[in-house]
Amino acid sequence: MKALYLLAVAMLVLSALAWSAQAPAAPTSSSTDRKWWKEAVVYQIYPRSFQDTNGDGVGDLKGIISKLDYVKSLGVDVIWLNPIFASPNDDNGYDVSDYRAIMKDFGSMEDFDAMVKGMHERGLKLVLDLVPNHSSDEHEWFKQARSSRDNPYRNYYHWWPAEKGKPPARFSFFDINSDAWHYDAPTNSYYLHIFSVKQPDLNWENPKLRQEMYSMMRFWFDKGVDGFRIDVLPFISKDTTYPPLPEKYHGDFVRFYEQGPHLHEYVREMNAQVFSKYDSMSVGEGPGVDSVDVHNFVDPERKELNMIYHFEGTDFGYLKGSHKIPDPKGWSLPEMKKIYSKWDATFEEKGWGTIYLGNHDQPRMTTRWGNDAPEFRVYSSKMLTTFLLTMRATPYYYMGDELGMTNIKFDKIEDYRDLETINWYKGALQRGDNAGAAALLEGHKISARDNGRTPFQWDDSSNAGFTTGTPWLKVNPNHSTVNVAAEEKDPNSCLNYFRKLVALRKSTPALVYGKYTLLDEANPDIYSYSRELDGKKLLVMLNFHNTTASANTGTSLKKATLLVGNYGKPSADGKLRPYEAVVYEVK
Ligand code: GLC
Ligand code: CA
Repeated sequence: MKALYLLAVAMLVLSALAWSAQAPAAPTSSSTDRKWWKEAVVYQIYPRSFQDTNGDGVGDLKGIISKLDYVKSLGVDVIWLNPIFASPNDDNGYDVSDYRAIMKDFGSMEDFDAMVKGMHERGLKLVLDLVPNHSSDEHEWFKQARSSRDNPYRNYYHWWPAEKGKPPARFSFFDINSDAWHYDAPTNSYYLHIFSVKQPDLNWENPKLRQEMYSMMRFWFDKGVDGFRIDVLPFISKDTTYPPLPEKYHGDFVRFYEQGPHLHEYVREMNAQVFSKYDSMSVGEGPGVDSVDVHNFVDPERKELNMIYHFEGTDFGYLKGSHKIPDPKGWSLPEMKKIYSKWDATFEEKGWGTIYLGNHDQPRMTTRWGNDAPEFRVYSSKMLTTFLLTMRATPYYYMGDELGMTNIKFDKIEDYRDLETINWYKGALQRGDNAGAAALLEGHKISARDNGRTPFQWDDSSNAGFTTGTPWLKVNPNHSTVNVAAEEKDPNSCLNYFRKLVALRKSTPALVYGKYTLLDEANPDIYSYSRELDGKKLLVMLNFHNTTASANTGTSLKKATLLVGNYGKPSADGKLRPYEAVVYEVK
């Protein structure tokens, strides 16, 4: 059985190699132009939680180096690392105090060079996380800037002189009072921070700041990195006349912050001065970006970015205007289909999409979109893996999802480390809203970011093999069964299923470039679609619910070949069992 399985995987890998050896098509700008970053599977590593090697309870670069063979064994192509730059870690590295230095907790520049070398030797590409919208308040630039109004670095940030009165309201994501202006006594001014008070916004209207950023990006490219994921990119340009915030944005200010007046000018400049000079990959985080304005970023003719990742597919199912409190009515599969189908259609002619369900800002996909009850965990997580790897978009797959890791669901606020949950909780208490604080604590068992950040589960030892010390965030107790060591041994594990799906995608051009057609649209339980390219047709059917259901795809399965399924054999009556996933080749 195992030998057969290994043989199948080996064959998939071989055909993948054959496919990648073909010459890419002549350049045009249609969505089917071959590009390595369209064919890639991206694997995201949250370095803080991956592997600790010195017992301080924090993951490090040496830890990543020690696990490169594991990452390679998954079959993925690109590693995206969350920020690894010097940082006081108010927001785990998204508050950078030196863009050209490695965070002390993570190691040294020598470790970085060895890591890049180790990745490239294995044919893995490296994408770093660029944080352009804000720095840490401990960055030298900010220390200078706040020291006097005529300091040369003053203009690297956004200020409002207090003699003009209070600045027009701006909301902050992480501030306890949601206030994005912080009064800074030394210069009797307010500074802007749309994230935490320790993350002052950088002033992109200042050409000097922009040049600093581009030269820093070239510095990392010259050290061998292959691309950047760009944090909250659409926020970098601001209307610095600070008009009052229109009423309609008070509950939902993301859209207002997004796409400031000079945004695209800056992204084009970044492309001209940096990206265009390297065979690189660029992906912008796109809060607030919709399927219409995304083209302004990724239309190849505009020479801005390769890809954007949006939030429509992960933000729904929460109560509107709440701090990520799940809607007690749940979320609807037809709505999910609508969102993902719309985004597919967006790139039918031009541009290229992305798809993800988990990352460091999301809870575990199995808990949020599948079912983490013991009888459904494995099925539902494989089903979601099937979804991510069979859509027309570059999959961004989050570490630990290949094991079927689930939310830890902390009961106590003291267990949390993420400033988002902590500050929202404190804010509610400060407003005297005890019920709100309790609802937040309950809701965040499903939605909190720390659920996706618990240490990676290598084995069943006391800290899951992550550290010999005290982990910075608690390890999920289910590591006793959900871990790499156990799953390596089991041919039916989530881990081996992920490898199989990656190999299938890499050996099947129709899964990358093939046309997507939604089938059986109104089916409340099953998500079905076909993928077609050059006469090859695949049918994907995914049961998103915990009951058996029938699909009505209008496609006969008589001459169909099952390529992969999470139950082994499909059931004789053609129905899909709870969380069943099947991929057929149909004639
Ligand atoms: C992005 C990051 C998130 C961070 C925020 C501020 O959304 O993904 O982790 O907290 O930006 O930098
Ligand atoms: Ca460490």
